[in-house]
Amino acid sequence: MARYLVTGGAGFIGSCLSKSLLADNHKVVIADNLSTGKLSNIPKGADFIECDLSKPESMALLPTGRFDAVIHLAAQSSGYIGQKDPHGDMQGNVGSTMLLAPWCLKNETFRFIYTSSMTVYGRKAIAPLDEDETCTPVSYYGASKLASENYLRVFADEGLNPTSLRLYNVYGPGQNLGNIYQGMVSIYLAYLLKGEELPVTGSFDRYRDFVFVEDVVSAIRCALSVESSPSLAYNVGTGVKTSVQEIITALIDALDLPADYPVQEIAGSKSDLFGSVADVSRIAKELNWRCEVKLQDGLQKMVEWAKTQDC
Ligand SMILES: NC(=O)c1ccc[n+]([C@@H]2O[C@H](COP(=O)([O-])OP(=O)(O)OC[C@H]3O[C@@H](n4cnc5c(N)ncnc54)[C@H](O)[C@@H]3O)[C@@H](O)[C@H]2O)c1
Repeated sequence: MARYLVTGGAGFIGSCLSKSLLADNHKVVIADNLSTGKLSNIPKGADFIECDLSKPESMALLPTGRFDAVIHLAAQSSGYIGQKDPHGDMQGNVGSTMLLAPWCLKNETFRFIYTSSMTVYGRKAIAPLDEDETCTPVSYYGASKLASENYLRVFADEGLNPTSLRLYNVYGPGQNLGNIYQGMVSIYLAYLLKGEELPVTGSFDRYRDFVFVEDVVSAIRCALSVESSPSLAYNVGTGVKTSVQEIITALIDALDLPADYPVQEIAGSKSDLFGSVADVSRIAKELNWRCEVKLQDGLQKMVEWAKTQDC
């Protein structure tokens, strides 16, 4: 039995990860400020500490003693909010990493998994992109994710074993349907379930790499299975390109809605990326991870779950 600290464990991906760890009889402590996460997401059996990890005083609230790993998911997770409040984004994302990394070293906790983002790459014409591509983020959120990765590289010289996982567009049951600032699939789905006109920001030809939440959890678990990873950063996606038009059509089909469902096109923002798809060969080769869930199957599972929720 291992002991894990899951930050952001009241959120979408963190709660799914915590459930998976608890199911294998591991001890899970969740630290979360409930800003976008929910108390109801915290799985039975996990210990919970409510705290803002960007504040130095919160470190004293964390249990002392060695953890087998810290999985740091807590973050301001919205690109939109990052553009509105760059300082808050930096404090939440970089500040928490800068406090947790030395806390880990002090508590003899050396394994550190960080959920970074595909936004670190910025605007690139290449698809799929591998991890050797230069990182030139065009959003404050992408800049804060890259800054955290870079700080973790420096902490690696002090004895930390960090791995940054650059997540692509994660979707699945449990995604916050009430959060209109994060998650392309969940935002579209919430509008469709309410029967409201669907606002689409930017071109329908934009494309993304949609990865199912359980596949992301299995990627984190592959990273946890090694004491240190051969590389510091890995893409976590499917390698499959899906346009905004295709995802909207797939959701409309899955909900049995008319093909001419009303959709409103809204001008995109400067920080939005036209397209991004992961090259996943490095994580396959070095951490033995492969994505299992096909988009159609994952969307079906998410739609079935979403129909049971209040939007
Ligand atoms: N969902 C995606 O598509 C995606 C893509 C790339 C990267 N990521 C990253 O994965 C991680 C998890 O994302 P998610 O989709 O589960 O988002 P989420 O918003 O559901 O989860 C984030 C959690 O962190 C908590 N939190 C935020 N700031 C905090 C702070 N200062 N102190 C303590 N807790 C705090 C929130 O309450 C929430 O429970 C984030 O780091 C996010 O940036 C997500």
